[in-house]
This record gives sequence, C-alpha cells and structure tokens, in this order.
Amino acid sequence: MKPEVQPNKLVVFSGAGVSAESGLPTFRDANGLWNAASWERMSSPQGWKKDPKAVLDFYNARRIEAWQAKPNAAHLAIASLEAAFEVVVITQNVDELHERAGSSKVVHVHGQIAYARGTSHTRKRYRVDDAPITLGQLCEDGSQLRPDVVWFGEDVEFLEEAKSHIASAGKVLVVGTSLSVFPVASLVKAARGRAEKVLVSLDVSRPPYGYSFVRSKATEAVPALAARWLAEARQNSNELRLPAEP
Ligand code: APR
Repeated sequence: MKPEVQPNKLVVFSGAGVSAESGLPTFRDANGLWNAASWERMSSPQGWKKDPKAVLDFYNARRIEAWQAKPNAAHLAIASLEAAFEVVVITQNVDELHERAGSSKVVHVHGQIAYARGTSHTRKRYRVDDAPITLGQLCEDGSQLRPDVVWFGEDVEFLEEAKSHIASAGKVLVVGTSLSVFPVASLVKAARGRAEKVLVSLDVSRPPYGYSFVRSKATEAVPALAARWLAEARQNSNELRLPAEP
C-alpha cells in the first residue's frame, strides 16, 4: 500500500557531491576516495578483518576533514526550504553538514563518521566528534570500537523509512550522487509519478526516469531551485489568503 502523497512534503536525497564544494572528497570522481584508496581494504568487513588499523587510520583522517568542513550554499539552501515545506533529508553522507546548515530531519542511511560503535551484536554507539578511534579502544561490552558507518556488504540503515518518506513526497530533490551504490540508489524509484522530481549532479551515467536532470554544481543549482520553490509556496499561500469578497 503506497502512502498518500503530501504536496507540502519535500525530500532531499544527497550524496558526496553536495559536500564536494565544502572541500570533502567524493568517491568516484577523478580525485575521488576510491581512486586513491581501495574500498575493499578501507570500507568492507573483509578489509577490517585483514588490517583494522589501516581502516581506523583511514576513517580518523576523514573524520577530522568532516569535522573541519563548513556547510556550503547547497546545504544552506536545503535547510532554508523548511520555512515553507516539511523537509526530510536522506543522505548517503557520513558528515554532518546538513545538520550544521540547519536541516532538522536528517536520515543517514550509511551511518555517521562522528560516532563509533562496538563490533559485537549490541551495536552500542558513542559520539566521538573529531577524535580518533584506536586499536585497543574498546566498547563497554569489551569489543573493539569501529567507525559507525555502513561498509560494503553491510545492511543499510533506515532504508524502509527512507523509502516511505520519498514515496509520500510532493517534491524530490536528488543531489550529488552517482546513484551507483545499491540498495540505496534504488530509493529514487520510490518517488511517485505525480511528484516533482529534480536531479542535480555533474555527471550521472543514467539519470532516473521522470527526473529533470540539472547538470550543475550543487552550490549553483540548489539555491536557485530552492528560491523558485519558496517563491511558488509564497504565491500559493497568498492566493489561499485572498481577502474575502467585500
Ligand atoms: N555539485 C554537484 N554534484 C557533484 C559535485 C558538485 N560540486 N561534485 C561531484 N558531483 C557529483 C558527481 O558527478 C557524482 O555524480 O556527485 C556524485 C558523486 O558520486 P560518488 O562519488 O559515487 O558519491 P556517492 O554517490 O555519494 O556514493 C555513494 O558509495 O562508496 C559509497 O558509502 C559511499 O555513500 C557513498 C556511496
């Protein structure tokens, strides 16, 4: 049973490209993380088993970068949409730039680098901000701490919740993702035919059906789109508030 479409609900689905202009590297661009390092070694349970210290060092460096980065005009424009819409941000990013820009509802489907978690079934998590996680640093259940991020082959978090948000949105903005990692990339298909769907990215191999593709930097296209949507919302509310006939 598909949820009711709420015209005033606006869902943003973001990837590494939305943080690129804040200085954080993407994964698959020319200077992306997976060109400089091996995702099998740095972002998989097998890599962790083989060389946990290398994995901890990799994420410790990324954690400091993420902590020092600042939200950019795209993050701020997305947060500004809350003035007129019920906004839910679903992000593949492990940084907190959406939150720091002011977005109040952010769903991290690939986890958060500012948190550590145990490696036992309890999954106890601890906020570490920009502090390193070291080999021998243990969870209270005695297991080694690791970054609280989702590695390849691990279960994505909040996937059903994310799908439900997108399926009930009147507007969907997909920004800064190559849509190449599943199952999260399939979220774009949950958007309804009647929803307004926009994809902002520099390069996507196959833009999803029904989305208008804006090939642009996020800090250019997203503020312009947000301004248009906010102006339309003001116009609609003015029309709704027309003075009663004398
Ligand atoms: N503005 C808009 N889009 C941009 C910008 C920018 N300034 N810079 C890069 N992009 C686009 C690229 O064209 C590409 O389509 O952002 C996308 C980045 O794609 P990826 O590097 O694949 O990042 P992402 O889609 O977020 O990766 C998904 O893969 O490795 C896993 O867990 C990791 O969450 C990540 C997932």
